Amino acid sequence: MEELNLVLLGPPGSGKGTQGERLQEELRLPYYATGDILRAAVREGTDLGQAAKEYMDRGDLVPDEVIVEMIAARIDSNEAADGFILDGFPRTAPQAEALAEKLAALGRELTAVLLIDVSDDEVVRRLGGRRTCVENGHVFHTEFNPPREQDVCDIDGSELITRDDDKPEVIRHRLEQYHAKTAPLIEHYDSQGLLRRIAGAASPEAVCEEIRRTLATLRLEADEAI
Ligand code: AP5
Repeated sequence: MEELNLVLLGPPGSGKGTQGERLQEELRLPYYATGDILRAAVREGTDLGQAAKEYMDRGDLVPDEVIVEMIAARIDSNEAADGFILDGFPRTAPQAEALAEKLAALGRELTAVLLIDVSDDEVVRRLGGRRTCVENGHVFHTEFNPPREQDVCDIDGSELITRDDDKPEVIRHRLEQYHAKTAPLIEHYDSQGLLRRIAGAASPEAVCEEIRRTLATLRLEADEAI
């Protein structure tokens, strides 16, 4: 397989970020998480951050054109020449279309879309207990992955907070947005033969292992096709 162009798809809190961080280290590929990029822009007070903040705090999606421009430049960069991992993009039909057009223009295509599948109840449990570090966005969970010291990041010592969009009423709205605008992409990518379902309700280690097995199968299939 010459390049590995992956999309992580799934509802809020399904563990895309948790798995994306691991995959980035294992595969040594650039990892582009739109939520992380937007939150960094908010922290830095850039024009992008100021434009995105009100949408994010409400749990609404940021307009497609802003997101597409942000990601297209990254895919077209030297660091992504051997592949990339996208987390949180595409999230709407127009974003999926823009991604396909961008890749086609570069003579490339997606390798696979990994759907991390979890129920709405599990999402609510996970996001309700998520704590995120203010400096670098490291992620913990009060029950499933608690920090050594309460409200302090194990990695950089900064304060752990509840994200504004992890408040209960915003979580519900984000789930509605997911079902209305993002879930239709499951059928879209399935019909193209790109979708691989990963059972996301297991432990982070077990989910990671299933992703590894899926990627190994994809490599075998690609070798057999040569
Ligand atoms: P974004 O940050 O992408 O939010 P999201 O998709 O809602 O994803 P999350 O970051 O909430 O969850 P995750 O799946 O990464 O889960 P995590 O690994 O942290 O986007 C935020 C906002 O930005 C959007 O609402 C929108 O406004 C905007 N935006 C972003 N992309 C956009 C786009 N393309 N278009 C338009 N707008 C866009 O895990 C969650 C918790 O569970 C953690 O506490 C973790 O420790 C725990 N956990 C993880 N895995 C497990 C496990 N297997 N078992 C138990 N606990 C686990």
